[in-house]
Amino acid sequence: MQALRIYKTDDGTQARLEQMDQNDLSEGNVLIRVRYSSVNYKDALAVTGKGKILWRHPLNGGIDAAGAVEQSEDDRFAPGDEVVVTGYHLSENRDGGYAEYLRVPAECVVPLPAGLSLYESMAIGTAGFTAGFALRRLGDNHLRPDMGPIAVTGATGGVGSYAIDMLSKAGFDVTAVTRKADRAGDYLKSLGASRVIDPEEILEGGRKPLGTIHYGGGVDSVGGPLLAALAPQVRQYGSIAAVGLAGGFKLETTVMPFILRGVNLLGIHSVECPMPWRQQIWEDLAGRHKPDHLDSIATQTVGLKDLPDVCESIVAGDIVGRTVVDIDKA
Ligand SMILES: NC(=O)c1ccc[n+]([C@@H]2O[C@H](COP(=O)([O-])OP(=O)(O)OC[C@H]3O[C@@H](n4cnc5c(N)ncnc54)[C@H](OP(=O)(O)O)[C@@H]3O)[C@@H](O)[C@H]2O)c1
Repeated sequence: MQALRIYKTDDGTQARLEQMDQNDLSEGNVLIRVRYSSVNYKDALAVTGKGKILWRHPLNGGIDAAGAVEQSEDDRFAPGDEVVVTGYHLSENRDGGYAEYLRVPAECVVPLPAGLSLYESMAIGTAGFTAGFALRRLGDNHLRPDMGPIAVTGATGGVGSYAIDMLSKAGFDVTAVTRKADRAGDYLKSLGASRVIDPEEILEGGRKPLGTIHYGGGVDSVGGPLLAALAPQVRQYGSIAAVGLAGGFKLETTVMPFILRGVNLLGIHSVECPMPWRQQIWEDLAGRHKPDHLDSIATQTVGLKDLPDVCESIVAGDIVGRTVVDIDKA
């Protein structure tokens, strides 16, 4: 079987497309013939070695996979069942989806929900799942469309693009926050953003511990100073879903927005999302939250051999939207 396997060498990280023996895959009781995977920011960090994602080497890359069950020792799955696996430490401590086969414990496997094809599930992938998870946590914490605009940072990325699509579909007024306002403004408006602004506008408005209120909440993929500046501009009992760290992992802020306005900072950790939530979020992604703009968000489909170059572009912040991996593409 073919796999994109990530090694640690004296010269740094190397991702190699190679033949491997199926028996050498990480352990599990469900064997899946992978048809599609996807490229997330975390995948790009793992493949390029720009981030410390793998806990051990070598491993097959790819935090996402969709395909058909080939063999199962668990009664819940039978050969031919179409399934999705995202997170669960794929490409961290076990082999991931950048390979013809994936072997995982049945506890990690989600049946493909009716209403999604295997391709669509990976066009969504961890990025869309995470946006769906954020939407769920925001709703659980009583964020409503009448509480004001929602700021989506890192807007042109996978999580950002799907968050805009799903939030606007759910009736929220969305402000897209992007460093690419000049060239991606039309794209972001086509997904449902009513305003597209540069991060500088948030940074400028968030210099004081409590700023003028502009937002009901946010979905933040960037972290760092941008998240710190957003919190003081969120209204009473509004919520921000903290998703990512594309702009930095340090958060220097004050407690003022939290204790004087009751703002919620909601952590999103998709890797270990509990199975009952996970299945419900996937059902919603196939149903009421199914993105309306899948085709304009996932515009690129690549093969395993293309991944090193694609991952370099993602780490450089050059790519707009999502990339799907067709495992059988030459
Ligand atoms: N918590 C979780 O469970 C979870 C799940 C999935 C992803 N994540 C994290 O969420 C973030 C987004 O993931 P993704 O898959 O959507 O990645 P992506 O498609 O690569 O998008 C990231 C976006 O962040 C912005 N960005 C990139 N580099 C930046 C920098 N140096 N400074 C400021 N902004 C920068 C860019 O948006 P603009 O150019 O439009 O500003 C870029 O499009 C990543 O940090 C990822 O690790 C977390």
